[in-house]
Amino acid sequence: MSAPNKSYDPVEVEALKPEEIDRARDAALAAIAAAGDLEALREVKAAHAGDRSPLALANREIGALPPHAKAEAGRRVGQARGAVGQALKRRQEELEAERDERVLVEEAVDVTLPFDRVPAGARHPLTTLSERIEDVFVAMGYEVAEGPEAEAEWFNFDALNIAPDHPARTMQDTFFVQGPGESGGSGGSGEGESGVVLRTHTSPVQIRSLLERKPPVYVICPGRVYRTDELDATHTPVFHQVELLAVDEGLTMADLKGTLDHMVRSLFGEDLRTRLRPSYFPFTEPSAEMDMVCFACRGESVGNPDRPCRTCSSEGWIELGGCGMVNPRVLTACGVDPERYSGFAFGFGIERMLMFRHNVEDMRDMVEGDVRFTRPFGMEI
Ligand code: PHE
Repeated sequence: MSAPNKSYDPVEVEALKPEEIDRARDAALAAIAAAGDLEALREVKAAHAGDRSPLALANREIGALPPHAKAEAGRRVGQARGAVGQALKRRQEELEAERDERVLVEEAVDVTLPFDRVPAGARHPLTTLSERIEDVFVAMGYEVAEGPEAEAEWFNFDALNIAPDHPARTMQDTFFVQGPGESGGSGGSGEGESGVVLRTHTSPVQIRSLLERKPPVYVICPGRVYRTDELDATHTPVFHQVELLAVDEGLTMADLKGTLDHMVRSLFGEDLRTRLRPSYFPFTEPSAEMDMVCFACRGESVGNPDRPCRTCSSEGWIELGGCGMVNPRVLTACGVDPERYSGFAFGFGIERMLMFRHNVEDMRDMVEGDVRFTRPFGMEI
């Protein structure tokens, strides 16, 4: 910067010569007009209106002029800088408007396009399988019956001929909700001083159905049941069963066998059959475990190491559940004359059936609520 100088004439200072000022202004205006976008304009602004621009440098020279010359030089530089500032502002506005218009076109969203923001869910396979089983029996004239999940001990055990000292009543298996004699029992006939449990099977619905209806009784009872098991790959403390009960005149074990065969064929394939193995349940007599021929290998994996079967572990049979002829003591407890009527019943777990029917290896997948598990089963209704 120049030092103050009394004999200073602005015309003598190169940067303050009128033609220099005009040249700097015109160069700035031309550059502004030529800036094609905001980025270019930013550079033009730095070069022509920034601290090191010719007009800014000229402005600084004014301070060094003698007082009489300052006004004239100041006006000239001020006008030039004002013109450049105005032009910058206008061009900035123009370019911003252009940019906004372009962005509107380029980033336009077509709100009329089809979209899939709410992915389609799927029904839980436990629900669809249980409904399929119900359908098989409804088609044969059975009724769907239901009962409460918090059940009177009397229905869950006593009426089913399960004595108070039966192992099934210990804390090992049963969730006890209310002890005997505590207030707020679930109501209903027969339970008297009964406590309340989370039902450990769907068999209490047999009792409720027999008390509510007059024979002949044909019911299928799907529902949730509870046992004090830890959740692991093959156990869950809450699971589902389907119970079947038929009480009529003249029913025999042959009817039970025929009914089971029909169910297995409807669910797994025409040429499949079942077998019964002797077993024990307090509420059926005689009792049996029911197995079906493995629908995957049809028994061909047995003794055939070249063709192992994962579905039945090469045993040829798959265990379905328990069954038998309704114990006359159960009929009597429900006011049904065992001399006139007989009946059969069976019950099995839906989770287990889903596991072998669909090769589900871990029961936890069924309770975690992940749509990636349910979706492949589809939307069967
Ligand atoms: N309720 C029995 C269970 O949960 C199964 C069963 C039902 C057995 C009906 C016989 C008749 O193990």
